[in-house]
Amino acid sequence: MATDTSAFNSAHLEPPTHTQQLAITAFGEAKTLALQTQPIPKMTSQQVLVAVNFAGVNPIDAKTRAGLGWAAQQNKDNLPWVPGYDIAGQVVAIGEQVTEFAIGDRVSGFIGFPLQGGGYSQYVVAEQQALSHVPDNVTLETAAALPLAGQTAWQALEKVKVKAGERVLILAGAGGVGHLAIQLATAKQAQVIATASQANLAFLTELGAHAVDYHQGALVDLIEPVDVLIDLMGSEVGIAALECVKAGGRVVTIPTITADLVCQRAEALGLSACGILVSPSVVQNNAMLERVALGQLQVEIAQSFPLSQGVQAHQQIESGRTRGKVLLAVSAP
Ligand SMILES: NC(=O)c1ccc[n+]([C@@H]2O[C@H](COP(=O)([O-])OP(=O)(O)OC[C@H]3O[C@@H](n4cnc5c(N)ncnc54)[C@H](OP(=O)(O)O)[C@@H]3O)[C@@H](O)[C@H]2O)c1
Repeated sequence: MATDTSAFNSAHLEPPTHTQQLAITAFGEAKTLALQTQPIPKMTSQQVLVAVNFAGVNPIDAKTRAGLGWAAQQNKDNLPWVPGYDIAGQVVAIGEQVTEFAIGDRVSGFIGFPLQGGGYSQYVVAEQQALSHVPDNVTLETAAALPLAGQTAWQALEKVKVKAGERVLILAGAGGVGHLAIQLATAKQAQVIATASQANLAFLTELGAHAVDYHQGALVDLIEPVDVLIDLMGSEVGIAALECVKAGGRVVTIPTITADLVCQRAEALGLSACGILVSPSVVQNNAMLERVALGQLQVEIAQSFPLSQGVQAHQQIESGRTRGKVLLAVSAP
């Protein structure tokens, strides 16, 4: 298979052979993350080599590192394992049958979900079908923050068929998924009510939601009944919010670990309820990148940590207090 490495040849540089990565070395606390250097896998004719500038950090990365959930079970004999599903960067080599991308293109994608991961890496080999072109006026930070969280928000709203005029309650409106879900729901002309702490209320209002401080009391006493609940908290917080839903209303509960429990409790109240597992969609990623480019979708980035500070990045996401998204800034040699 011939690989186009003309960018390196014209600059009299050798194409990269190895990549630095941040890996889970053992299940446990954030300090089990460690840098490693590995050979870059050989590309097939349909694949693209991306020099990653930014990788998204998602709660699932920290849960997997802690040994929780399906991705951890599947990878328990496969450590060290490199997490990371969101990437944005530049194409540095292409397989001979790659038609959609050229060297130098700015790209982003939701890759290796759920079992492969691999985004916390200087270089990533990706299928061309997994990547989107990043519009010129969209930063690579924004493009790396969007895929997993944006597609989760998009698919959650589709799952419960949110319609114009409906009252939609979004728990954890200030988080990675929540702040995007608010904007996607208001774009469907739903009336959005979203929960957050005092410090995030103005942020939610700017995004188009009626903001409610969940510290002020039971949600059922603070919020008029809603048609739809988008539960981004799960467990007891999600269960308590079921009381805000009108008889016959719809619920989607996003944290997978407590989804069965929340659904059972919702169904016992006569509500229709389901969980979801996000599924990568380039079509949705392209649509959201276009909205960002047009100024119709705002992506909030809380903090960007160097790859060497992955421990701090995981501690931040595990705080449960992130406004928007956490990123790793990755620099190639
Ligand atoms: N099923 C799937 O495929 C899928 C996909 C993506 C995500 N998920 C799951 O969905 C959940 C949300 O993900 P995320 O990325 O949005 O998380 P995140 O960014 O870590 O969420 C942080 C936000 O949670 C808010 N929060 C904390 N406690 C709260 C409470 N009691 N009430 C309301 N808001 C509260 C915080 O707001 P304040 O600081 O204002 O309190 C903070 O802004 C996670 O459990 C994640 O694993 C599942």
